[in-house]
Amino acid sequence: MTDFDTIASEYDAQFSSSKIGIKQRQRVWKYLLRHTFSEQRVLELNCGTGIDAQFLGKRCLSVHATDLSTEMIATAKSRNSQDNVSFQKLGIQYLSEVNNEYDLIFSNFGGLNCISPEEWSIAAKEIHRLLSKNGSFIAVIMSRKCLWERFYFRLKKDSKNQRRRVSKNAIMANIGNQKVATWYYEPGELQHFLENKFNHVRSQPIGLFLPPSYLESFFAKNNRMLNVLSFLESFSLSSKWLANRADHYLIHFKKQQQ
Ligand SMILES: C[S@@+](CC[C@H](N)C(=O)[O-])C[C@H]1O[C@@H](n2cnc3c(N)ncnc32)[C@H](O)[C@@H]1O
Repeated sequence: MTDFDTIASEYDAQFSSSKIGIKQRQRVWKYLLRHTFSEQRVLELNCGTGIDAQFLGKRCLSVHATDLSTEMIATAKSRNSQDNVSFQKLGIQYLSEVNNEYDLIFSNFGGLNCISPEEWSIAAKEIHRLLSKNGSFIAVIMSRKCLWERFYFRLKKDSKNQRRRVSKNAIMANIGNQKVATWYYEPGELQHFLENKFNHVRSQPIGLFLPPSYLESFFAKNNRMLNVLSFLESFSLSSKWLANRADHYLIHFKKQQQ
């Protein structure tokens, strides 16, 4: 049983259906709308409760969505009835078990923060192997220097948590009542893992103006403020520096043509 099994039933209520979670995901979908097309074969990593698989299934030829958690996969299956969407319980560490070719490999909202730098290096080689010529790898990652988090913990006079993401070692982050080993990564570190076999396309902040979801109780009561922040977020530029200061960032690489 993984830590995420115990929170699968509450995950949508806590994150996906929260006002902040919806707005952050809308930013990701806006980007996906521009970079997905009907002939695409998609492999999704850490699909969680299957919301993105359902979205991508409506746009792409096929979606094979994977996650380490049995309960997340069960929830995702119950949500989806599309014939072109399939699910598999599979950890990112076991991508060598996958043998098809994909045009897009996608990972949303921090699943790739659950693997260590050593596991990342191995996964990067598998992602390269699984992608078709000129295929895309798009991931949404928790950044190392989130400004919101620094500001929030500073207000709380919690100096320990203010800089917790800076550590290169795993941090035990709260997921429901569980603690989950989490590594925070800068865009440049991902580029290092992917070696020089990919071209960097974009690094876009997701949650530079929009706050982290743990501030939901405050912003749920301050809808107007959240709408203003959401409006400001829509002007976010592609910048590795800004990306690394947001709660998450979307990073897009294209496999180099050999
Ligand atoms: C924060 S949730 C994100 C879920 C989903 N992508 C979304 O956008 O809502 C992180 C997900 O990563 C999955 N996960 C954690 N470690 C994993 C691993 N090593 N391999 C595959 N999935 C993993 C968890 O089970 C969980 O579903």
